[in-house]
Amino acid sequence: MKKLENLDQFRSWAKEAGFVYSSSEIYGGFAAVYDYGHYGTLLKNNIQRLWEKSLTQNRNDVVLLDSGIFMHPKTWVASGHVGGFDDVLVEDKKTHKRFRADHVIEEWFEKKGENKSMDKKTATELAEVIKEFNIKSPEGNDLTEPRSFNLLVKSNLGTTDASFTEENVTYLRGETCQGIYLEYKNYRDTLRLKLPFGIAQVGKAFRNELVARQFIFRTREFEQMEMQYFHKPEDKKKLFEEWKESRMKWHIEEMGINPENLRFKEHDKLIFYATAAFDIEYNFKTLGGFKELEGIHDRGDYDLTQHSKFSGEKLDYFNQETGERFTPHIMETSVGLNRTLMMVLEEAWTEEELTTPNGEKDFRIVLKLKKSLAPIKVAILPLSKKPELQSKSLEIQNLIRNNYMTQYDETASIGKRYRRQDEIGTPYCITIDFDTLNDNAVTVRDRDTMQQVRIKTDELNDYLKHNLY
Ligand code: GAP
Repeated sequence: MKKLENLDQFRSWAKEAGFVYSSSEIYGGFAAVYDYGHYGTLLKNNIQRLWEKSLTQNRNDVVLLDSGIFMHPKTWVASGHVGGFDDVLVEDKKTHKRFRADHVIEEWFEKKGENKSMDKKTATELAEVIKEFNIKSPEGNDLTEPRSFNLLVKSNLGTTDASFTEENVTYLRGETCQGIYLEYKNYRDTLRLKLPFGIAQVGKAFRNELVARQFIFRTREFEQMEMQYFHKPEDKKKLFEEWKESRMKWHIEEMGINPENLRFKEHDKLIFYATAAFDIEYNFKTLGGFKELEGIHDRGDYDLTQHSKFSGEKLDYFNQETGERFTPHIMETSVGLNRTLMMVLEEAWTEEELTTPNGEKDFRIVLKLKKSLAPIKVAILPLSKKPELQSKSLEIQNLIRNNYMTQYDETASIGKRYRRQDEIGTPYCITIDFDTLNDNAVTVRDRDTMQQVRIKTDELNDYLKHNLY
């Protein structure tokens, strides 16, 4: 049994199998932006639906929001992103390749068998480390002085002026949670929510990532699934532990991840808005090991205090029982949808060796996805293109398509069609043969065991319901 070995293999498989394409390929590509194909989109939608379900359908204290990508420009000044949302970069003086300074230093120490975190250090601090240890680029060349670059993406929305001045600039949101803070007042006043409560949203975020060579792990346009939990300050310790546990459980139970491939990592140095922070990391073998998947941040009262100060609006909470007025604190869970999809694909991708009925060695790529995540739940495969089998197959597809995402495929041999479905993770293949015309039964093949059973068509929906959910 083999797993994905490197990013090049991952990228080309994801394209060939119809999951992820590089953007604008016909124009030579567009760096760090990706398009999701039919199967990629279906998988992404399934992940999003399960995230929303775990927070809203399965709880009583979290509600949804879909806020605008564009917000008042002051949002990003108040949030601290205009002043302090930077990446520190260095350049190889010979090859002119750019790297994140913290990554170059960490990798340099790793090669020496030392584990040092450079997370969130300033340009000056990183420059000192480079100088002290005489750190070179990965190709062994001298590095330029570290320099800070702001990650916010600017736009000229609503102005005829082509230049970006402080007066006319609008930003594409750098994180989705800011939309939640701006709506806190409306949710408090119109939905009459009582603390503690959460607001969750899924949507696009944009960052001017200058070093983005890691497939869909780090891109300039991506989707975040963020939940902000508003609470009393004294509850923070308990809530932090509860959210850590709940989010880890979701990755294991709902995304089907082996717990050995997940771990918590506490931040050594905190980003400007956080007073405590843990990452959930996944062992991305195609990226060389454990990397951040999700952040769980105790943001304190930073965000509501800042937005209250800059907007002049009171963003507090009145406790009618105690007569107390205070600014709620916020516990954040923030996970990349695209990064989750990358994890799910990497975890599920398996190459298996098989023996054919006549004793020859063969292999198949099979995506061992949780059935709830599979883009296609059932494939409908007529044994031949004979019209009577085609019409019977479409009739059977119509029996179940209202309940499950199905795919009709009549091209190539049945063996090849099984392989195609295994590769995209389809749990069940239904084959319609000439016997079906007489006995109204079909062959159902299981993706994982490859075992086949004969099922009467009028029992098909019950069989699938029992086995898929
Ligand atoms: N609101 C908090 C926040 O945005 P973050 O650690 O910057 O925190 C949260 O981002 C998550 O968003 C990350 O753990 C990651 O999954 C995802 N993410 C961040 N930057 C990304 C990028 N450039 N490309 C893809 N996903 C990204």
